[in-house]
Amino acid sequence: MQNFVYHNPTKVAFGKNSIGYLSKLLPKEGKIMLLYGGGSIKKNGVYDQVAKQLEGRDWVEFSGIEANPEYSTLSKAVEQAKSEQVSFLLAVGGGSVIDGVKFVAAAMEYDGDTWDILNGAKVTSAVPLGCVLTLPATGSETNKASVVNRSEMQLKRSFVSEHVRPQFAVLDPEVTYSLPDRQLANGVADAFVHVLEQYLTYPVNAMVQDRFAESIMQNLIDIGPNVFEPTNYEVRANLMWNATQALSDLIGVGVPQDWSTHMIGHELTALYGLDHAVTLAIVLPRLMQTQRKQKHAKLLQFAQRVWGLEISDEESAIDQAIEKTETFFQQLGIKTRLNEYDIDQSAASKVEAQLQKNGFLKFGEQGDITPSKAADIIAASV
Ligand code: NZQ
Ligand code: ZN
Repeated sequence: MQNFVYHNPTKVAFGKNSIGYLSKLLPKEGKIMLLYGGGSIKKNGVYDQVAKQLEGRDWVEFSGIEANPEYSTLSKAVEQAKSEQVSFLLAVGGGSVIDGVKFVAAAMEYDGDTWDILNGAKVTSAVPLGCVLTLPATGSETNKASVVNRSEMQLKRSFVSEHVRPQFAVLDPEVTYSLPDRQLANGVADAFVHVLEQYLTYPVNAMVQDRFAESIMQNLIDIGPNVFEPTNYEVRANLMWNATQALSDLIGVGVPQDWSTHMIGHELTALYGLDHAVTLAIVLPRLMQTQRKQKHAKLLQFAQRVWGLEISDEESAIDQAIEKTETFFQQLGIKTRLNEYDIDQSAASKVEAQLQKNGFLKFGEQGDITPSKAADIIAASV
């Protein structure tokens, strides 16, 4: 196992009516800004529940953070929050709203062009934030990552800073009852791929991380078929906590990490606007095939422990594990080929050019995925 420092200080309030706990988590002094998305929280009653918790506080709001949050929208939030002297940010929504608010938090305290933050500039401070999660998928609620879009430049960039990790996360599984099937499927797939990005590399004898990762994947496989049941609390509660743990640092400490499926997938979102999880379901099966030699030992472990396959022939077990993974996404209702989204072979060179433009020249746990290899993966995914 590799050395690591582990510290995840996000306080989690989990369960039915946990939004009722919010006023205890919010600062008593200062000015709070509530930030949310396109209005789902107004329809499902979450806005009213949150507003009730804000009674007696000095607060303002900012709405309209879109899925795949836009830099231009977030810049308006930064301007408003600064002019209103906001001292605490409350994100209420899915990964896009939480990521967007993380950017706002860092940008409010950044001197200079705030795009630098997404260009690798170090974040040295941020306005404190907390969140109420409405879509289990990204893990953003307890992690330190943020992904921001700049669609006029076809860019999707991320940054990571301990300063933007939420102070608290309120996780009420009942708020997921209003989610459309598409977003529920996305949530299962995204969480599953998060685990694989931290697991499917090479063995370093990290027993806790491996078994924990395997159990999350098995849970998601079990939950998958039932996730669309409209008000099944047990399923939604388990989806929510599995998705949080899939990217809360715990399974990722002390192990090599990949993240190439995400890097290639982000370019597909930047180019074609595909949902984040959809891009992963398209890229991952082909990436597993391309990297099967480098990932051989872990692919076998994945085949055996997650899919319960007998290993009589190693290569055929790996083939079956890759096929089962793709079928799992398809059974969630996610199409796993680019042509099913009317995207043709020209995507390969476009993704290659995007990766070059972003300076992502070598990535993956071995540093051996290049823009040209990514183009081959995309070509095979049409
Ligand atoms: O905007 P509203 O009206 O709220 O509607 C949203 C949005 O249209 C809707 N929604 C959310 N909760 C709902 C709901 N509709 C009904 N009922 C509810 N309870 O769902 C739509 C999608 O929301 P979004 O936040 O975009 O989805 P998700 O949580 O999947 O987030 C995706 C974003 O997170 C980034 C992705 O790249 C993408 O930009 N990621 C962030 C990560 C991180 N911070 O660690 C890691 C991930 O790998 C990922 O890259
Ligand atoms: Zn993801």
